[in-house]
Amino acid sequence: LALDVASSGGNQSSSLLYGLLYEDIYHSGDGGLYGEMLRNRAFQGSSSGGAASLVRNTNYWQPVGGVSLAIDTSSPALSSSLPYHMRMDVPVGTTGTVGFYNEGFWGFDVDATKRYITSLYMRGNYSGTIECYFKSDTTGQILGSTSLNIDQTSSSGWVQTNSATFQPSKTGSDGNNTFYFMFDGSTLAGKSVYFNILSLFKQTLDDRSNGVREDLANALLNMNQKYIRLPGGNNMEGNNSPYEWKWNETIGSLQNRPGRPGTWGDINTDGFGLLEMMQMAQDLGLEVILGIWAGLYLDGEEISQANLQPYVDSVMNELEFLLGDETTTYGAQRAALGFPSAFTINWIEIGNEDYLNGGTNSYYSYRYMAFYNAIHAVYPSINLVSTINPNLVTSNGSSLDLHIYGNENYFVSLFNTFDQASRKYPVFVNEYAATNTGSNNNGQVGAQTLGMSCAEAIFLLGCERNSDIIVGSAYGAMIKNYNEAPDTVAAIKHTANEILYTISYYAQKLFAENMGTETLPVTVTDGGFGPVYWSATANSSSTILKLVNYNGETGASNAVLVNVEGSSKTTATLITLTAPNSTSVNNLPSLGGESSIISTTTVSRSADSFSVSFSNPYEIAIL
Ligand code: AHR
Repeated sequence: LALDVASSGGNQSSSLLYGLLYEDIYHSGDGGLYGEMLRNRAFQGSSSGGAASLVRNTNYWQPVGGVSLAIDTSSPALSSSLPYHMRMDVPVGTTGTVGFYNEGFWGFDVDATKRYITSLYMRGNYSGTIECYFKSDTTGQILGSTSLNIDQTSSSGWVQTNSATFQPSKTGSDGNNTFYFMFDGSTLAGKSVYFNILSLFKQTLDDRSNGVREDLANALLNMNQKYIRLPGGNNMEGNNSPYEWKWNETIGSLQNRPGRPGTWGDINTDGFGLLEMMQMAQDLGLEVILGIWAGLYLDGEEISQANLQPYVDSVMNELEFLLGDETTTYGAQRAALGFPSAFTINWIEIGNEDYLNGGTNSYYSYRYMAFYNAIHAVYPSINLVSTINPNLVTSNGSSLDLHIYGNENYFVSLFNTFDQASRKYPVFVNEYAATNTGSNNNGQVGAQTLGMSCAEAIFLLGCERNSDIIVGSAYGAMIKNYNEAPDTVAAIKHTANEILYTISYYAQKLFAENMGTETLPVTVTDGGFGPVYWSATANSSSTILKLVNYNGETGASNAVLVNVEGSSKTTATLITLTAPNSTSVNNLPSLGGESSIISTTTVSRSADSFSVSFSNPYEIAIL
């Protein structure tokens, strides 16, 4: 195969082409990016009946020393948003230390090189110290401790302890650890005391309070993506009324955040709220595509046209909150919460997959335009993204968000899908993933094989070649908890103390890191697309050719010869990503780690061409 890369004649490419989707799915938020380490810290949760109330039991808390724990609703509650608290009943005659421990989100990462901070709210007659410590369930050792102080002699209401910062004395050998709160039993004998918003954070990204988990945030940072859609996915929609994501219930004091039932089987504490998400995006240098709820629940309930206005108003208030200056009502509220500067929003996506659950008709007959008109009137420069063909809803230049899931073969077949696409409106692929190998449609695999990652990469080449209209792409899902979702795909999976970087993670990272500002035409001799696929772009200093070998030839005798028109360069950098075979996967470090290998070499030009030879039938190469 011989490829001639032209020096001009392509299109301007999208500066946003590679991005991220944030959705709280399978503990990507709570117990994931959100740095709170205690699970069920404020007893939010759906009842066994579903979403009717927000009560849950004392799951994830275990009694120690003969006490009993129960959910309690006695007055006063800590706040009207958090009506449930945990009661600890201490039997008469108790001596020694008593208390409880938290199981965390499948354990805790205990790292002696990092700072941790803990605190709690308590009601009841107890003044003194509360001993807090990490215990390893593997070795039985105490790994680090601190103490909290509380004085309730003059209060019959809720009192918050001090916030204690400490560094563990030992690093846990694994994540199999628990966190204890222990009290003087004889002081409490025969009494009941109450707890809420118990909290433990490990040092967060940029040391933000109420911030995000440093290692996971750095995993995102290292992907070098350009934007993040938030809050995204169907978790924003809510299963049923009234449990859509509500921005104003995710800001301010944690006491005023009731939480809500998420759509992925877990409770959202909403501790990772709108400002925390925006702060994270800022810290990671990501442009935000703001997701707003468009009046459709997953169960098919939709807000009628007559009743939609309050929801539109709420979005306008949210935008004033994010974009308004301090003279505006909501801009002032943001400033009072510690964010004096307005954020920048250039993109807003109206809804999520509104073609599902019977939503299409109402979306294009009134829901989309109600939000569109209101936003466009006040913020005419913000680009609005529709979740169905924008031609059906407006002629005013909206963009489309396509979501594409399917098996490996399907992703290979999508390589040229955008070549003939209408240039009438820009397109995001704000969710995509090859979810299974070959032509398999039976569920998903737990981690992408090399073959699947190469298939996704072929699809991305197609996006890149058409990046005059394909504005962005984002993997669905970005992050999942390995313990909860071992069997479905995500770019990254985490446990309490480990991160699984899939082969797809590395493919996206390499693609984002090596992206030009314009596409370049490529002429081929001796063949066509398949089994090798390619795309070329350039910026002011480099020409970049991406190649994917998909069940192709290997070795020098089958090298791809690349001629770069007008280039006097005699050497080029070649980066390759591959793994032993097409079914290879990456895994958690403790389960064998990574099989994928990234190599960087320098190749020299011989005569007119650089020679790229694949070492593996399945391989991604970037010259
Ligand atoms: O990412 C998983 C889900 O897939 C998203 O919530 C939804 O938008 C899509 O159906």
